[in-house]
Amino acid sequence: MKRVGREAAAKLAALHAQCFQRPWTAGEIETMLDHPGAIAFASEDGFVFLRCAADEAEVLTLAVVPGARRRGLGAALIRAACAEAEAVKVRRVFLEVAEHNQAARALYVRLGFAEVGRRTGYYAGDVNAVVMSRDLPL
Ligand SMILES: CC(C)(COP(=O)(O)OP(=O)(O)OC[C@H]1O[C@@H](n2cnc3c(N)ncnc32)[C@H](O)[C@@H]1OP(=O)(O)O)[C@@H](O)C(=O)NCCC(=O)NCCS
Repeated sequence: MKRVGREAAAKLAALHAQCFQRPWTAGEIETMLDHPGAIAFASEDGFVFLRCAADEAEVLTLAVVPGARRRGLGAALIRAACAEAEAVKVRRVFLEVAEHNQAARALYVRLGFAEVGRRTGYYAGDVNAVVMSRDLPL
């Protein structure tokens, strides 16, 4: 796994499309990666994308292709991105996860994230989001 920038946008879009019903285009990903606080790590089978602002960061997405799940990649991606965020003085990380996404919620709990709120109807289809957070270092 390595840190990637906008040159990886097409690859990240292909990975994203294998993991989400509403895929992001390479162009959208490029724009997101151009943000000065963007941190993305990727391997052949997955990627994570954080956005940092001052001493906080948000996990914008985490994706591991179906054939590579339950081998620790998702957790390793989050750890790598959080370590990089910590190096630029981020002290707290937030994320939103769909209420029914048991896999992701279990992963985040395992990494020490705790629920700090809910957003009603946050996702398409009137799906609620759970807001989770934890302090760094992870
Ligand atoms: C969520 C996701 C990134 C997890 O990636 P992964 O590489 O399989 O996760 P890991 O192997 O690092 O799992 C770490 C721990 O998380 C928990 N976990 C992960 N997937 C789980 C599942 N399907 N059911 C229950 N617990 C799960 C387990 O505690 C696991 O440890 P274990 O395998 O030793 O039991 C992956 O399932 C995915 O891409 N899903 C679709 C996209 C998505 O929902 N992204 C998150 C958006 S917020």
